[in-house]
Amino acid sequence: MAQQEEVFKKLISHCKEYGFVFPSSEIYDGLSAVYDYGQMGVELKNNIKKYWWDSMVLLHENIVGIDSAIFMHPTIWKASGHVDAFNDPLIDNRDSKKRYRADVLIEDLLAKMDEKIEKEVEKAAKRFGDSFDEKLFRETNPRVQEHVAKREELHNRFVKAMNDNNLEELRQIILDYEIVCPLSGTRNWTEVRQFNLMFSTEMGSTADGSMKVYLRPETAQGIFVNYLNVQKTGRMRIPFGIAQIGKAFRNEIVARQFIFRMREFEQMEMQFFVRPGEELKWFAKWKETRLKWHKALGLGDNKYRFHDHDKLAHYANAATDIEFEMPFGFKEVEGIHSRTNFDLSSHEKYSGKKLQYFDPELNESYVPYVIETSIGVDRMFLSVMAASYCEEELEGGDTRVVLRLPAALAPVKLAVLPLVRKDGLAEKAREIVDALRFDFKCQYDEKDSIGKRYRRQDAIGTPFCVTVDHDTLVDNCVTIRFRDTMEQKRVPIDELAHIIGEQVSIKSLLQKIAND
Ligand code: GAP
Repeated sequence: MAQQEEVFKKLISHCKEYGFVFPSSEIYDGLSAVYDYGQMGVELKNNIKKYWWDSMVLLHENIVGIDSAIFMHPTIWKASGHVDAFNDPLIDNRDSKKRYRADVLIEDLLAKMDEKIEKEVEKAAKRFGDSFDEKLFRETNPRVQEHVAKREELHNRFVKAMNDNNLEELRQIILDYEIVCPLSGTRNWTEVRQFNLMFSTEMGSTADGSMKVYLRPETAQGIFVNYLNVQKTGRMRIPFGIAQIGKAFRNEIVARQFIFRMREFEQMEMQFFVRPGEELKWFAKWKETRLKWHKALGLGDNKYRFHDHDKLAHYANAATDIEFEMPFGFKEVEGIHSRTNFDLSSHEKYSGKKLQYFDPELNESYVPYVIETSIGVDRMFLSVMAASYCEEELEGGDTRVVLRLPAALAPVKLAVLPLVRKDGLAEKAREIVDALRFDFKCQYDEKDSIGKRYRRQDAIGTPFCVTVDHDTLVDNCVTIRFRDTMEQKRVPIDELAHIIGEQVSIKSLLQKIAND
């Protein structure tokens, strides 16, 4: 675990050093849990968004996109339940004066208990070698059984307290399990209080009578309130979906783990409108489709798992997270929710407008049910970076840091490197960039030794480098170097567009997941 933390720290420095992510307002000492994307980061982020967007609107004839405003009528947030229920339970430690989320303190303890169980299993696996029967061991070993029983007891108490919104019980759990403040090490806790996560501001001048408006905490409501506009103008028939990518804002109290939990972040959300009664079938379908989308990136199938929710949000009748193995454990990257007809019915009630859909096949009107897929761009970015970051020892004792990014997501696809600046090699290299820059993001680099230039490209995840040497001027061929294997091959310049194009296009990813 300590080693993983070390790698995570290195990843954060790497993100800064190579222009992926900078702390916001850095020259003013930063702004907590707010980050800026640099010249490399923005390219990677845009590629992630394009992969998601195209997978929704190109691969599904019945999904279209919108781009709704961040500001919306404040009653929308009353109707959605965010004004009354979008809260975190907070607790303060009186000695350190630090504020924590009570649920996160308990979840951290549960994670520690899980670790203990896994350690027992790992130890036994080492002891018994090939003859180890993990299932049998988990079911019969008294120490594991004891840990599992304790964990279950805590888990059940926690879930009940959360479902009942019982803040006193949450505090009691923290006291009973002797959870200490990680900073002061004491158990001098305050009461647990609810804290609303929405940011608000004023719209209009005070002279006119200004209105309190919120920065949206999710993009989904912009889709709900436009659903009939899209359905009617696009002549959409149920089932159909509306996709949106945009910023969301939450006044997160426990903001940590770099871009994992931010106060300003970006979501990619899709609401899929279905017939009442068919929602669980579509929920299952979207779980499968979304996992396939993740796995097509080739970051490792074992890095994903579903986590079904114990505590359902006020709007859901089924919910799961797709979790990814981050350097700090399996964490939610995407949520898939069966939101029933809660949102649309509530907007009908609060707006006084009918939001029903007339189903020509059934010859009846109803408020559609909704399956939502909701993924954070920044968390996706972090999972891609974490899985790609690699420190390698090379033959001869040399080392390199390489980002093994999926080629279709890499910020730069091709670096063109003249072996030397003179003898017309620089001009030839420029010619290649000029020809290929319409197809993909290329970089030209002539500074330092060729080895140093390769390392720079490895560090930003460029899948291909081509070197222009004196023979190039004669045979019109270049040496192409593949990032992951470092293999080098001599190829005609004319073939570069084809060789690289096949590997780096989003199309290659989309083809893997098509036919759903
Ligand atoms: N419309 C449903 C919704 O917003 P959510 O589980 O609260 O559901 C969806 O958020 C996704 O948004 C999460 O899976 C996560 O990837 C991302 N997300 C949520 N809060 C975030 C934060 N503070 N920082 C970064 N990403 C966040």
